[in-house]
Amino acid sequence: MYPTKILVTGGAGFIGVNFVKMLLSEAPDVTVVNFDLLTYAGNLASLEDSMNDPRHIFVHGDICDRKQVCSTLKKYDIDGIINFAAESHVDRSITGPEIFVDTNIKGTLNLLQCARECEVKRFLQVSTDEVYGSLGKEGMFTETSPIAPNSPYSASKASADHMVRAFQHTFGLDTVITRCSNNYGPYQFPEKMVPLCINNARLEKSIPVYGDGLQVRDWLYVEDHCSAIWKVFKSAEPGSLYNIGGCNEMANIDLVKVILSILGKPESLISFVKDRPGHDRRYAIDASKIMKELDWKPSVTFKQGMEKTVKWYIDNLPWLEKITSGEYRKYYDSMYEDREIKG
Ligand code: NAD
Ligand code: DAU
Repeated sequence: MYPTKILVTGGAGFIGVNFVKMLLSEAPDVTVVNFDLLTYAGNLASLEDSMNDPRHIFVHGDICDRKQVCSTLKKYDIDGIINFAAESHVDRSITGPEIFVDTNIKGTLNLLQCARECEVKRFLQVSTDEVYGSLGKEGMFTETSPIAPNSPYSASKASADHMVRAFQHTFGLDTVITRCSNNYGPYQFPEKMVPLCINNARLEKSIPVYGDGLQVRDWLYVEDHCSAIWKVFKSAEPGSLYNIGGCNEMANIDLVKVILSILGKPESLISFVKDRPGHDRRYAIDASKIMKELDWKPSVTFKQGMEKTVKWYIDNLPWLEKITSGEYRKYYDSMYEDREIKG
């Protein structure tokens, strides 16, 4: 039997929210303690319909705070931890890497220490394909690909993965790691490419495409990432590692064109701007291990998932407008003002 009293960290962020909702609707035996600091990326409005569910307990907390994490684990008799909490945006890690070290590395270490102290039965670390670095035109990342992170964000995630591995090896803590490709879907903070593009396009504002727009990402609908994490948490061998991906490679420029076409907006909104420093050229995930061993596969095609996603943002404009007013405008101006528009 798998752990059923689960601490989900970062459960007010994009993937965490989708994961908490999935557990509440599909795992009636599970109680979720949602532990989130509510940084700029955490949003309780995304959890409005889950706040009164007796199987969902929200704790406003910091994964770096040992006393608070330990007392929460004890209070709710937690037997499993799934760690989504992180600083997650590559561009922010370039302008301010320190908090990425604090949250992603020290925060994960703190959780691991608390998990040991409180004898938690399973710890799942939600990691990323970015730890593998960048690919050329050919090949895919497998679970045995070397780690070669290129951004402060991916370096912090890779460090955390190593620490998780070390706790398994040295202390026998039951840990598993998942490494997923780019997610898209409802509730994503509009600093990320997909919701940023949807928001700008609906307002007929220009869409900033970095460099030549030919960087390739492998896109996965967020609910399919959540179902994969749940399978790994429930049934993977201790110490195992799984890649998760959509088998859906696409150049950024083509992604933007798909979104514009769903919204019926012109391609003239596309604006090529200064590239992200150190921008990884291509990611591609070989997800055959999780498909074979745990019988996982994506439930929607890219076309179905992206149509659902665009519809969700358009149907939830108050959610989007609340986020994109105030602080977000300052962020947008500071991030994009010195990216010279080339055309
Ligand atoms: P997000 O930025 O949307 O959410 C992060 C959440 O963590 C927020 O709710 C935030 O308030 C919370 N948080 C930050 N610091 C905290 C702290 N000190 N204590 C407690 N909570 C804290 O991120 P996301 O896109 O949902 O990503 C979730 C996880 O999945 C991350 O670990 C990320 O590295 C990983 N991941 C993301 C993607 C993707 O495409 N978004 C793909 C692969 C892996
Ligand atoms: O691969 C998994 C990773 O995917 C996760 O680990 C990260 O948490 C998540 O943020 C995401 O990282 P990316 O950097 O790939 O995502 P982002 O949405 O920021 O960018 C997607 C691509 O689009 C990337 O090649 C950069 C480009 N881009 C992004 C923005 C914000 C643009 O061209 N213009 C933009 O304005």
